[in-house]
Amino acid sequence: MIYSDKVMDHFANPRNVGELRNANGIGEVGNPKCGDIMKMYLRIEDGIIADIKFKTFGCGAAVATSSMATELVKGKTINEALSLTNKAVVEALDGLPPVKIHCSVLAEQAIKSAISDYYKRQGIDPIPLVGEIKED
Ligand code: FES
Repeated sequence: MIYSDKVMDHFANPRNVGELRNANGIGEVGNPKCGDIMKMYLRIEDGIIADIKFKTFGCGAAVATSSMATELVKGKTINEALSLTNKAVVEALDGLPPVKIHCSVLAEQAIKSAISDYYKRQGIDPIPLVGEIKED
């Protein structure tokens, strides 16, 4: 089995899938390696990620990493969410095959993109806080 039990669990039963009607930060990123797309919805209240959902046209590894990433940032502060790396998500899933690591970048980038959108809606320039959203 090349996928860990945790990856299989999050792929088969992904957490936080769907859209958030009351989202106040929405991010969408594409993966330049495979062309897959990830959309992330955030509800931020008092600087905390009060709720989060995702939708993806990505592969199983993208589903599993996004599911884990949403669990890791839910209830956390914006800064904690920004410091989440795809490496930490992969570690939380007990690893991914090397060829699938690029899939885990989608979740990290989509969360950053959604936080940028949140700041823009507040009239705040996100670049100094979030940085440029680089793809891969
Ligand atoms: Fe595209 Fe995994 S192959 S996200």
